[in-house]
Amino acid sequence: MTAALAVEGLSVSFGDRSRGDAGRRAVVHDVSFTVTAGETFGLIGPSGCGKTTVLRTIAGLNTDWQGAICVGDIALVPGRKIEGRLRDDVQMVFQDPHSSLHPRHRVEHILGEPLAIRGISGVASKVTELLEQVGLAAHMVSRFPHQLSGGQRQRVAIARALLLKPKLLLLDEPTSALDVSAQAGILNLLADLKRDHGTTLVLVSHDPGVVGHLCDRAARMAKGRLETILDRSALSRLS
Ligand SMILES: Nc1ncnc2c1ncn2[C@@H]1O[C@H](COP(=O)(O)OP(=O)(O)O)[C@@H](O)[C@H]1O
Ligand SMILES: [Mg+2]
Repeated sequence: MTAALAVEGLSVSFGDRSRGDAGRRAVVHDVSFTVTAGETFGLIGPSGCGKTTVLRTIAGLNTDWQGAICVGDIALVPGRKIEGRLRDDVQMVFQDPHSSLHPRHRVEHILGEPLAIRGISGVASKVTELLEQVGLAAHMVSRFPHQLSGGQRQRVAIARALLLKPKLLLLDEPTSALDVSAQAGILNLLADLKRDHGTTLVLVSHDPGVVGHLCDRAARMAKGRLETILDRSALSRLS
């Protein structure tokens, strides 16, 4: 069976190429892991170890990398933005839902526009359905992001990521900007998505409790390298 995600020998450097190696700093070294369809895979490790960089690279937001990345049977190409089917198949949810939603667009526009652009019909009812799926009331469509709580904003961000029925959902510390009760709500929502829709998730967190609660397996990173893969029983000892 094809893996939902296969990362092989991924290395990422930042800095100015024109100055040769002197101007460059390697932040991710030779990282390899695979994620099975329907699996929830965690990426853990201390701040600065390269978790966000790995996720942004898989999402096609950072194109300066070496190695191999395949999403299903499609390979990403270093140096190129992701295009075609992959743009819909891979979606990312960021840590701070405040800065990732357009401040002057209402929820109906934030969620409806990507559908309308693709000529998909029945936008309003699809948006209502999606809100229900992420646990938000239908009347939230007329709200602006600043009229929502942090937890509600993150639900909208997750709804937007789910709009195009991605094969792979990447979540970068999706609960760390939220208070404890909103965190629990988002974790339950992710557990529901996994159970009811079989969505393949890659979840970055510095919180071992979050990963222990949600993930089937996880990779522990340190200083840009993948140290170990933790299985379910190792994860249960984390939380
Ligand atoms: N755009 C960038 N330019 C230069 N260095 C970066 C950039 N993004 C991240 N880094 C560096 O890469 C390292 C890993 O960062 P990051 O992936 O954000 O770690 P984590 O998400 O695990 O906290 C850090 O040392 C960070 O300073
Ligand atoms: Mg990070």
